[in-house]
Amino acid sequence: MKKLDIYMRPLTLKDINSKYVSWFADSEVTEYLEAKNISISESKEYLINGIIQRSYYIYAIWDNTKNIHIGNIKVGPIRRSDGVSDLVTVIGDKKYWGKGIASKAIKNLKEKVFLDSGIRKFVASIDSFNLGSINAYMKAGFKKEANIKDFFVHKTKDEIFFSNKIYLAANNFKFDIKKFNKWEPISLEDIE
Ligand SMILES: CC(C)(COP(=O)(O)OP(=O)(O)OC[C@H]1O[C@@H](n2cnc3c(N)ncnc32)[C@H](O)[C@@H]1OP(=O)(O)O)[C@@H](O)C(=O)NCCC(=O)NCCS
Repeated sequence: MKKLDIYMRPLTLKDINSKYVSWFADSEVTEYLEAKNISISESKEYLINGIIQRSYYIYAIWDNTKNIHIGNIKVGPIRRSDGVSDLVTVIGDKKYWGKGIASKAIKNLKEKVFLDSGIRKFVASIDSFNLGSINAYMKAGFKKEANIKDFFVHKTKDEIFFSNKIYLAANNFKFDIKKFNKWEPISLEDIE
């Protein structure tokens, strides 16, 4: 099979359309996400707020061959004075799951941000049931650093059970916190 060619660029306001919000209305996609059933206007406001607050930056992941927007990857929430940030990935188009896209996107963005920003550490906190996510981050070079037992609650009709919260991290040994404090990779003009 031909290898999938992906590219990433800042998510723009025009990318946030009915297809985009349909990803967040799909219970399989959002099973382990906080963002569920978000509207177009809420999503646009969220995108803008990250830049204004200097708190998070969202990139769109595209299938370069078919020119289709297939997911997002978010740097943030950022803790500037600690030099750390979360990294959150969503492949919204389920046809693209299990093809190595998340691991490739995570690895590429991690390496780019390590070089450009001076960040010290990326962290991903993941439900232990979300094996696809754990595997994708590990394949991208993240390592397990902590495991909080029985953190998440899952309910079925007649059962309640728990899963763990796993922290995976990637460390940048060439960090520069002063540089990271000034880092602004996406501006409001970039998302127009
Ligand atoms: C989790 C998610 C990002 C993974 O994306 P993906 O592009 O399918 O991941 P990859 O194809 O890069 O997978 C990496 C590895 O995990 C494996 N994998 C993927 N899904 C899996 C699953 N459900 N169970 C077990 N392994 C899985 C892949 O086979 C691959 O391993 P391999 O290279 O040895 O074959 C995607 O399923 C998704 O967006 N889910 C909904 C949102 C979400 O939960 N995001 C994570 C929040 S922390």
